Amino acid sequence: MSSILVTGGAGFIGSNFVRHWLAQHPGERLVNLDALTYAGNLESLADIEASPDYRFVHGDICDRELLERLFLDEQVEQVVHFAAESHVDRSITGPDAFIRTNVEGTFALLDTARKLWGANPERRFLHVSTDEVYGSLGPDEPAFTETHPYRPNSPYSASKAASDHLVRAYHETYGLPVLTTNCSNNYGPWQFPEKLIPLVILNALEGKPLPVYGDGRNIRDWLYVEDHCRGIDTVLEQGAPGEVYNIGGHNEWTNIDIVQRICDRLDELAPGERPYRELITFVKDRPGHDRRYAIDSGKIQRDLGWTPAHDFETGLEATLRWYLDHRDWCDRIRSGEYRDYYRRQYG
Ligand code: NAD
Ligand code: TYD
Repeated sequence: MSSILVTGGAGFIGSNFVRHWLAQHPGERLVNLDALTYAGNLESLADIEASPDYRFVHGDICDRELLERLFLDEQVEQVVHFAAESHVDRSITGPDAFIRTNVEGTFALLDTARKLWGANPERRFLHVSTDEVYGSLGPDEPAFTETHPYRPNSPYSASKAASDHLVRAYHETYGLPVLTTNCSNNYGPWQFPEKLIPLVILNALEGKPLPVYGDGRNIRDWLYVEDHCRGIDTVLEQGAPGEVYNIGGHNEWTNIDIVQRICDRLDELAPGERPYRELITFVKDRPGHDRRYAIDSGKIQRDLGWTPAHDFETGLEATLRWYLDHRDWCDRIRSGEYRDYYRRQYG
């Protein structure tokens, strides 16, 4: 039986994608390869781990022997590659892991696929990337299209840009049937609370300061994670090999607007002693902080018929309620206890 190999399926978007895929493609085998770094959490997949279509493999995408064995044993015919170091702030304090996983790891996967698949047009290698490779936009510049020049500004975005270039080169040189998606900022259930939205929700509920970098006027274009997962599935099934698809929700907000909005809604859903806005604290800016991202998703909408199903109102509401309903999951992340789950579960 052939398989789809998902890398980084224990992370935020990967775990949402694994759940989406198993629900949409019953009877199709999915192998999830994840190194379980601090960002990987198998508790996010506890509800599906007994599925007969699913197998978890604890391993590193840089391990070429493991990759080759998995491709052969599991008859891998499709790859969806999420595994990465993904947090900009961590890339500033410790860039090494970003070069290793994002550049060398992507290279190891590509080269294994080239060796075992060649240019077989029936295979698919989908590389999940980010809008951050395009750099920062001025206030009146049009949103990023697929042909926007690459101008990465952080070690994270530079490492993702390098991986995108390798993916392109493996198509142009070896005919590997690759697809690349560049998506805007995701939010939704199971996101590790180091990223803005879950960090603000949990800090507020715990009465801690809500750190806003610089003047809080940086702009991000937010997409609900389920819409991203549907977009990836659409590109995998209908995308043309060698093509790039930008995915985004036409949903630009300044950071301060988002933080205030979360505070105001939490005042209604989980009132504290004082309004949550009082916890907002402006802190030192991030070095090299990109001012604005915005995605033009016209190509995937026109060519493949994908559109986002959630607007910010419904997506943020679902996210807030999810975090309020999953305090156990959050507490075990905050305390580090989630890291014991693998040992308890898999020995
Ligand atoms: P995440 O940090 O939540 O998860 C990354 C996962 O990869 C973790 O489970 C981790 O254990 C695993 N991993 C890390 N190094 C590994 C290695 N060497 N071998 C195997 N597994 C490894 O990340 P995320 O937010 O889910 O992002 C997933 C992908 O989507 C990344 O490639 C990221 O660049 C891209 N992306 C993210 C966003 C966003 O807003 N989060 C937006 C656009 C694109
Ligand atoms: P983040 O969620 O880290 O995503 P990215 O840097 O990949 O866009 O940050 C989103 C925005 O929020 C970004 O402009 C940085 C800002 N930010 C804060 O103001 N405070 C914080 O504590 C964090 C984590 C981010």
